[in-house]
Amino acid sequence: MDKIRIRGGQQLNGTIRIGGAKNAALPLMAACLLTDEPLILSNVPHLADITTMANLLGQHGAHVSLEGHDTEGGHTGRVMSLTAKDITSTTAPYDLVRRMRASVLVLGPLVAREGVATVSLPGGCAIGTRPVDIHLSGLEALGAEIEVESGYIRASAPGGLRGARFAFPKVSVGATENLLLAASLADGVTTLENAAREPEITDLAECLIAMGAKIEGVGTDTLVIEGVESLHGARHEIMPDRIEAGTYAMAVAIAGGSVTLEGASLSHFDAAMAPLRRTGTSVEETSSGGLIVSRNGARLDAVDVETDPYPGFPTDLQAQFLAMMTVADGASVITETIFENRFMHVPELHRMGANITLQGRSALVRGVEKLEGAPVMASDLRASASLVIAGLAAGGVTEVRRIYHLDRGYERLEEKLQLVGADIERVEDTE
Ligand code: EPZ
Repeated sequence: MDKIRIRGGQQLNGTIRIGGAKNAALPLMAACLLTDEPLILSNVPHLADITTMANLLGQHGAHVSLEGHDTEGGHTGRVMSLTAKDITSTTAPYDLVRRMRASVLVLGPLVAREGVATVSLPGGCAIGTRPVDIHLSGLEALGAEIEVESGYIRASAPGGLRGARFAFPKVSVGATENLLLAASLADGVTTLENAAREPEITDLAECLIAMGAKIEGVGTDTLVIEGVESLHGARHEIMPDRIEAGTYAMAVAIAGGSVTLEGASLSHFDAAMAPLRRTGTSVEETSSGGLIVSRNGARLDAVDVETDPYPGFPTDLQAQFLAMMTVADGASVITETIFENRFMHVPELHRMGANITLQGRSALVRGVEKLEGAPVMASDLRASASLVIAGLAAGGVTEVRRIYHLDRGYERLEEKLQLVGADIERVEDTE
């Protein structure tokens, strides 16, 4: 196993190329199950979760292949071809689903196309219990019969799914995606109310439309889907990863310097950049489609944030923002409203000298002059990123262990940071 070693104190200057969005790519890949024709995705990031999804789809009978890099238009992501000519298995086994919760996204497409699907219950994870009850009640509304038995969800709709009205009791990204996928092939019109509006959902809807789906209300909280009998193949370019971009923006904010985030779009994450600007960090759009993030030597101002579904401040940037606030001038309150257990970075940041008091869903962060490097342990993907960010500003050496979490969602993070001047390396963890 590897660890990441950082010697803090270097400013960051240069350019970082932002990759395709993991959280857009995963549902887009699942969309291949809806058609027997090829779905060609470009700007696919090179990440462990993408490999897990490819393995799962392969297990259902999809042929997944990489067709090199898409260099047209300056994109460095890979091109992936996914063809589910025949579905050879409608079961998503525990062994694959337990590795990645997003595996549950095959449920909607499988039951829509095959009339039956058996998917392992994903179970909880480090950031919370993360039930899938809304995915299931939504599919029931579309006429599926659902049973949960021996750790497996069994969904059946022998006569096919039927369009229906469904109001999400709580905003859920994954449940919205699952139902959007399923409703595209249902018989009749489906209206999804209180749907999630994340840009990744818009990306999925646009791809489904390119495949022949009829969807209205894209980008709003009410999606109206008129089911079609069949979908066809399409080509789609995956949107840039707004969470990767936000993570690097916060790395620059804490370390100082000026970095161009090539390919990042402000329109995708204004809500995250507004509080970042209030810390005294400059975020400007470039004429060539990117962002320049810079901060001079001044200390960051303390700013409160509360996570919320889009267009609110993303929970996937909460840990990184909190890390930044540990060295801000003053105190800030960071409130997490999406997941019940997403403060596992806090005890690790304490080890680096941060002053944070946790109270229920909020963390009171009293900025200290400087953090001190320490050995720390990553607990989940975004918590890992927050520890790297803290390490960039800390005195001495920080070593982040269990970085397999990081590799699930950040492509070559240490190489990208090295390129802009960070003293960071991946080394073997022999302990
Ligand atoms: C997606 O997870 C993202 N994952 C997460 O990214 C992200 O943190 C999350 O949305 C919120 O933005 C992917 O896109 C692959 P939800 P998802 O359903 O879809 C509760 C990362 O670091 N809920 O919107 O699983 C749930 O427990 C991550 O990249 C139910 O109660 O999130 C949570 O409290 C991790 N019942 C809230 O809703 C359900 O059936 C929002 O979850 C479904 C969800």
